[in-house]
Amino acid sequence: MRGVFITLEGADGCGKSTQAALLADAIAAAGREVVRLREPGGTPISEKVRALLLDPANTEMCPECELLLYEASRAQLVRQVIDPALSRGAVVLCDRFYDSTRAYQAGGRGIDATLVDVANELGRCGRVPDRTLVLDLDPGTAYARATAGGADRMEAEGLAFQERVRESFRRLAAGEPARVRLVDASGEKNQVTRRLLDELADLVGTVGRSGDGA
Ligand SMILES: Nc1ncnc2c1ncn2[C@@H]1O[C@H](COP(=O)(O)OP(=O)(O)OP(=O)(O)O)[C@@H](O)[C@H]1O
Ligand SMILES: [Mg+2]
Repeated sequence: MRGVFITLEGADGCGKSTQAALLADAIAAAGREVVRLREPGGTPISEKVRALLLDPANTEMCPECELLLYEASRAQLVRQVIDPALSRGAVVLCDRFYDSTRAYQAGGRGIDATLVDVANELGRCGRVPDRTLVLDLDPGTAYARATAGGADRMEAEGLAFQERVRESFRRLAAGEPARVRLVDASGEKNQVTRRLLDELADLVGTVGRSGDGA
């Protein structure tokens, strides 16, 4: 069976991690091996890089350092985990990938988009997602969800930053409609899961139809 690489994207608090778990359960219940990952992270090295990136104490981190740390974490994840999983036919579900770098480091931070694309080219080690699901939610609702338990270093950037990130994701979806699908992330969790599975039907089949009221 061919491996399938799916990424979940969207601004802070839109429900990516929640939906990654629900999607993983639904796809695994249909008999596929599912490998669930998050970026930055997913290997011992990448998790150490994650800690550097999200530590609120690292106030001196410059945008270029931040960008390259994301790419370093990503390259290790692709080589060590994603490539082998896809080779053995698994469904890889990754919570964020290079579209986040485009949205946050170019859209949010304002690094030149061409430079970010070059960095992404290196960090992705040749991997392109088969499908990217962008959870779209108004930034006020998303931000309130995300910061309910306190802000991490990225979330501390505030609402205007999140608005730029959202717009950037919407442009990515408009520019690559075959790969990147914008999905309404408002409403009940199970409703959102249903919308996401509909956008994956051509890749993983019709799964999760029973027991969700759909
Ligand atoms: N459809 C929903 N309705 C209400 N609350 C939700 C919904 N989906 C997720 N939440 C809640 O919103 C919060 C943020 O969700 P989650 O952590 O999944 O978002 P995220 O996109 O992974 O955020 P981050 O970017 O910070 O990792 C969580 O407390 C979660 O339980
Ligand atoms: Mg999350």
